[in-house]
Amino acid sequence: MRRVESGERHGGNLAAAAERLGCPPQRLLDASASLVPFGPPWALRRALLEAVFSPALRAYPDRGWARLRRVLARRHGLEHSQVLPGNGAAELFTWAARDAAAAGVSLLPAPGFADYARALACWQAAHVLGPLPLQWGPAFPQPFPATLPAEVLWLCNPHNPTGQLWSRASLEPLLERFALVVCDEAFLPLVPGGEAQSLVPLLARHPNLVVIRSLTKLLACAGLRLGYALGDAERLRRWAAWRDPWPVNGLALAAAERLLADEAGFGRWIGRVQAWVAREEPWLRRRLAQWPQLTPMPSAANFLLVRSEASLVPLRQALERRHGILVRDCRSFVGLGECWLRIGLQHRRGHRRLLAALARELPPHG
Ligand SMILES: Cc1ncc(COP(=O)(O)O)c(C=O)c1O
Repeated sequence: MRRVESGERHGGNLAAAAERLGCPPQRLLDASASLVPFGPPWALRRALLEAVFSPALRAYPDRGWARLRRVLARRHGLEHSQVLPGNGAAELFTWAARDAAAAGVSLLPAPGFADYARALACWQAAHVLGPLPLQWGPAFPQPFPATLPAEVLWLCNPHNPTGQLWSRASLEPLLERFALVVCDEAFLPLVPGGEAQSLVPLLARHPNLVVIRSLTKLLACAGLRLGYALGDAERLRRWAAWRDPWPVNGLALAAAERLLADEAGFGRWIGRVQAWVAREEPWLRRRLAQWPQLTPMPSAANFLLVRSEASLVPLRQALERRHGILVRDCRSFVGLGECWLRIGLQHRRGHRRLLAALARELPPHG
């Protein structure tokens, strides 16, 4: 077994890649992280600038997150006590994992997002991996596959890294079978028609469900660190008591409050993002399929997996070194390995740059 080189474990490590390659980060095409390529929205940049010149920079942030909770609660049709803003979704996984540790063994579908295991390890929580089938069709949503016995289920909808959108109808019965279900919907607002599969409407009847969302992907603001949990008010009160006093910084709070309060503007942004995914996913997939040695897998989300019979590591390295294009190495995803790559969707110009680089690197006949 080969060690995974540092920098290959996660996507989106743009600064490290730029240093490795000795070029400015702006010259790289980063398809290793799955962020909207035309963001962040100007409204967010403006809101941040205003926040810098407001008391939000000097004062401690509101420890009750009252305004942001209110706008998020309105958006999701919940009480404000059912909303907890976090320092990115990643911070909230840590608290979900503390509850998971108390409930028993966690089931992590594999391949899956590595941060759930990181969060569980914080609390020495036991987990088992449930292998997902590695073949699927292009019609979404799809039924969630059969599960293994465990007390806690970690779902990701749409699933990272496969891009599958699970149907709510197939997930709902799982809420009766598991003591706790943590559903990561970080990418759901980017999926055309995705909200129809959200588990948020089930929160009212299932206190054992927590939905975790992120603004990182939708707004292309990974540096801001903003996510939120939706769930049972008592559970979220407990999480709030565990964490440090100011986990969400005042600038992020002020900017997000302002952006989300403009419901029409936020809705227009989501519409634009979903139209981009609907247009670019089939376009890129069709073109990648022209190479007989590549099998692009259908995705409902803004990233897709590509598989091959042979290792794709040399191709990934050539794209990086010779063309300044970063794609996600899949060796750190349990169940995938070196014959897979994950590509984050770009704007059309970025896709053409990727395709031109592939044409240089791949022999025309397999
Ligand atoms: C499925 C999934 N959930 C959550 C996150 C983390 O989101 P955040 O930036 O809000 O911590 C990621 C980041 O890659 C992700 O892939």
